[in-house]
Amino acid sequence: MSNELTRADEIIESYDCNQANLIAIMQEIQAEYKYLSEETLTLIAEKLGVSTAKVYSVATFYENFSLEAKGRHIVKVCAGTACHVRKSGPIYDAIHDYLGLTGKKKTSADGLFTLETVACLGACGLAPVMTIDGEVHAKMTPEAALELLEDIRKKEGAAV
Ligand code: FES
Repeated sequence: MSNELTRADEIIESYDCNQANLIAIMQEIQAEYKYLSEETLTLIAEKLGVSTAKVYSVATFYENFSLEAKGRHIVKVCAGTACHVRKSGPIYDAIHDYLGLTGKKKTSADGLFTLETVACLGACGLAPVMTIDGEVHAKMTPEAALELLEDIRKKEGAAV
């Protein structure tokens, strides 16, 4: 077993490898690693004596489980009613394209950004709203949103 999986192994053992605790085990492992890797899911299946298909189906059924590592910066576009009406959809689409995301991928290939949607942030008067690493950006447009990401990308590039 790789060192990376040692902690996952300990968590599974702490639940006595009991299948009844499958979800709790997955939640705790995700809290530790921030996502559930293929290796981790295989380990869970082996140790609990369940099929990997079952573990995968649980991982994909519950929205809170993530099967990919998150990016360094988390971008959330509000999909609440007020923001939707004020066109948060095109902002999401512009970022999605800018990051080159396809299919179910939420994280850019360079690992810099993860794009998500979020329910109403309670700042409807400032719609459409997005957050970057928890900081709220108000009255966004697709252009303004991409400028913010571009700035971060430049800063990250400068830091390397
Ligand atoms: S709907 Fe977006 S902040 Fe309320």
